[in-house]
Amino acid sequence: MNILDSKSDDYKRWKELKLANFTGDIGKLTIDIKNPHNLTKNEASKCSDIIERGNILFFRLENEFADIKDSLLKLSKQFGMDDFEILESSEKSGLTKIEVSDEDKIKSEYVPYTNKALNWHTDGYYNDVSDPILSWMLFCHSDSDIGGENRFIDHEIVYILFNEMSDALNDLLLEQAFTIPENKNNNRKEISGYVFKLLSNKLHMRFTMREKNIIWNKKIMKSIKLLKSIILENENYQIKYKLKPNEGVISNNVIHMRTSFTNSHNKNRLLYRLRSKKRISV
Ligand SMILES: [Fe+2]
Repeated sequence: MNILDSKSDDYKRWKELKLANFTGDIGKLTIDIKNPHNLTKNEASKCSDIIERGNILFFRLENEFADIKDSLLKLSKQFGMDDFEILESSEKSGLTKIEVSDEDKIKSEYVPYTNKALNWHTDGYYNDVSDPILSWMLFCHSDSDIGGENRFIDHEIVYILFNEMSDALNDLLLEQAFTIPENKNNNRKEISGYVFKLLSNKLHMRFTMREKNIIWNKKIMKSIKLLKSIILENENYQIKYKLKPNEGVISNNVIHMRTSFTNSHNKNRLLYRLRSKKRISV
């Protein structure tokens, strides 16, 4: 099936199924997991179903686990996630703590490790195109009283909506759609790449709504403006949720954002994150 040809019957069938399958109802997108070390057949089949439909799945652990990091790694492997990205800010396993970090100077330079709002993006949009992030997991250890809500929109739906409104898909397939300038602080070289590409016949997206430190290809500005407005304005396709402690979300790297939040005296928001170079397959 080639979904790059929006005039084909294959595409039309894929599109109709995709839109018909959409739900923003968190209850229908959530699964309760008894033991993250060993998914039951029933749990696994429900996970597979939900992910297949919308590229996103929420989960709730029924119990608290003493070694939650180990549990999350074991759970993610059962979701087919592996080959985790290891960053300077992550542990050896690839697990990264997402929390406000005043002490860690490297971390505090980046918005994810502050309490600021995080604009719409896909993870790894600044990675080399040969090193894409195909899925991720977020798990809430503790939440904040105010703010810290996430919003998600399936990049495949955004792709469909773009095609409904424009014939300029080729703009977004360009290998030089945007450039992230070199970052001398972390020795990252200048990176250019596509917005959409089929990888193993599945749509991958590299995107950020940020205005700074990104240079869009001047020839495709009209398409980028349209793409941004589609993400912002189609609230009916946005999934909004604030993770509670012991809850998590996995996704095939859909577009997402976070509202700002306020930590209180003895309550600090802490999420764990894993980024995988494999798509989810349960
Ligand atoms: Fe992210």
